Amino acid sequence: MEKFLIKGEKALSGEVYISGSKNGALPLIAASLLTNGVTILKNVPNLKDITTMLEVINKLGANYQFEGNTIKIDATRVNSYIAPYELVKKMRASIYVLGPLLARLGRAEVSLPGGCAIGPRPVNLHIKAMENLKASIKIKNGFIIGRAKKLKGSEIFFEKVSVGATINAIMAAVLAEGETIIKNAALEPEVGSLIDFLKKMGANIKGENTDTIFIKGVSKLSPIEYDVMPDRIEAGTFILAGVITKSRIKVKNIIPEHLKSLLDILNEMGVKFQIGKNYVELIKVKKLNPVEIKTAPYPGFPTDLQPQICSILSIVPGISVVNETIFENRFTHIPELIRMGANIELNDNIIIIKGVKNLYGAPVMASDLRGGAALVLAALSAKNETIIDRIYHIDRGYEKIENKLTKLGAYIKRIK
Ligand code: UD1
Repeated sequence: MEKFLIKGEKALSGEVYISGSKNGALPLIAASLLTNGVTILKNVPNLKDITTMLEVINKLGANYQFEGNTIKIDATRVNSYIAPYELVKKMRASIYVLGPLLARLGRAEVSLPGGCAIGPRPVNLHIKAMENLKASIKIKNGFIIGRAKKLKGSEIFFEKVSVGATINAIMAAVLAEGETIIKNAALEPEVGSLIDFLKKMGANIKGENTDTIFIKGVSKLSPIEYDVMPDRIEAGTFILAGVITKSRIKVKNIIPEHLKSLLDILNEMGVKFQIGKNYVELIKVKKLNPVEIKTAPYPGFPTDLQPQICSILSIVPGISVVNETIFENRFTHIPELIRMGANIELNDNIIIIKGVKNLYGAPVMASDLRGGAALVLAALSAKNETIIDRIYHIDRGYEKIENKLTKLGAYIKRIK
């Protein structure tokens, strides 16, 4: 199994280009099933989760070519409605095919994803949305079995904000008969980019970037060419790599507005940075202040940056408090950070961090994607050497992370 060997305490410098967004691309791949032709997606990150989604739509009858960072998806022939467990268990976002399959074929059998390292992660809101659109849903043999002669527009109210369920509901509603109103919809930029994509395909959607989305069903969508948005979580992770190593780096090819909650916190911590049209440049990272952070749906502080900021707060003098409100078990990085010398207490979902002077390299293990990224950041600042095991978790979400970090001056090697 591959591991990262990282020698810490190296200052970074220079520029890093952020890739297209994994979580932005996944819904677009699923939404390509809503058309009868060839969709072209550009700026797609070359990642395992993307190929898993391509395998899922391929099982359903769509063909694809993935070259460089461009995917061509030919969804002319979609002739199967079964998304098998072997693929869905690899990546929960496979459930994104539920809405498009019901819209296109009136039938879907999608394996239930099951739990994952960061908690139980139910799919009840996805199911509820499909039922609201008049699909009949049964759970049988570990599968969500859906039928709908024709989906019918309706009101969908989400009692909890869910990115995935909002995405599935939108994809199902665009071809449904009549009008759908989605209330308490997720505001994440990835939802906004899906709406933009669907509108360019001919969907009738209003209320984007608000929590109430209005959709009038249309009879047909036409395939288009589209650029995937920049990855705000990769961007945040690299900005934090600069902060933890007290470096001056420029993180380019991003939409800084998507990172406002992170930049607000960095401001409070005393980090000096400059915001450009498509970049953030760290100017000065000296003495940092402890902070209190609560993760929340967008525009709040993203749960996907919670582990990485914990690594930094581990070496910020004073007491910081991080309240994880989205996932009940997103703490796999904590015991590993403690092994590297951090002083952290976990009370339910509240992480209390007493800053120490330094972290120290140790053999550690990634157990999930963002938790793994947190360990990379910790290792970059730590004294001595760190070996991170199970880096396949990190590879799921970061394109060429070691190349990008090496170019910035870090010592990071992929070893067997
Ligand atoms: C997406 C992101 C993930 C990010 C998360 C929150 C993708 C592929 N993944 O995941 O990186 O961490 O948003 O920003 O884009 N919930 C239910 N019932 C449901 C669905 C969700 O109770 O049917 C709960 C979840 O357990 C969680 C909360 O709602 O507590 C938010 O989850 P959700 O926004 O759905 O996350 P994902 O879409 O799975």
